[in-house]
Amino acid sequence: MLFTSRTLLSLVSLAVFATPGLGQQLQLNCTAGAAAFNCASFVPSFCSSMGNITTINGNSTYSGCFAGPGPNQSCVLTALSTISSPFAVNVTNCASALNAVSAVCPMGGVGMFTAAIFKFAIDPNNGACAIPIGN
Ligand SMILES: *[C@@H]1O[C@H](CO)[C@@H](O)[C@H](O)[C@H]1NC(C)=O
Ligand SMILES: *[C@@H]1O[C@H](CO)[C@@H](O)[C@H](O)[C@H]1NC(C)=O
Ligand SMILES: *[C@@H]1O[C@H](CO)[C@@H](O)[C@H](O)[C@H]1NC(C)=O
Ligand SMILES: *[C@@H]1O[C@H](CO)[C@@H](O)[C@H](O)[C@H]1NC(C)=O
Ligand SMILES: *[C@@H]1O[C@H](CO)[C@@H](O)[C@H](O)[C@H]1NC(C)=O
Repeated sequence: MLFTSRTLLSLVSLAVFATPGLGQQLQLNCTAGAAAFNCASFVPSFCSSMGNITTINGNSTYSGCFAGPGPNQSCVLTALSTISSPFAVNVTNCASALNAVSAVCPMGGVGMFTAAIFKFAIDPNNGACAIPIGN
């Protein structure tokens, strides 16, 4: 399911990750929000779903809302293009970035490899998805 994600606000902290094998650094900003739980279980499904997308339009986002991991909880995962022309997401980099966000940011956050095209974000929420894409 495609929809435009709300802007991530309240970025509070910054961590820089060394990323073995990629030769790139991952910059992370954690988010301050009301909900704090781990959305890592949805990362593989979200990132692989973008293997079915040829390109994401410039300045656009691709998001999915997943029900869980607990009752009345949901996770919004997002890929945000930072360029103005259409481009395809790298599924491997999506998973690396979002797994790092999951590990470091209990309330969610955003990660981006240096010189990359896309930012990847996780937003845990209390309450159900407006439009779930499943889990
Ligand atoms: C990708 O598309 C194929 C064929 O339509 C479908 O079977 C598969 O479930 C899709 N994968 C994801 C992750 O959406
Ligand atoms: C994307 O954003 C940039 C910078 O704001 C702008 O110059 C460009 O026209 C936008 N491109 C599209 C396709 O909206
Ligand atoms: C995705 O990125 C990784 C690491 O930068 C690279 O090794 C791989 O070839 C890329 N995959 C595609 C399909 O571009
Ligand atoms: C993290 O926040 C800094 C400072 O606001 C900003 O310059 C940087 O682009 C952000 N990084 C990501 C991945 O959003
Ligand atoms: C689900 O969470 C929302 C947002 O916190 C809350 O307003 C609602 O009462 C909760 N519903 C249930 C059944 O717990």
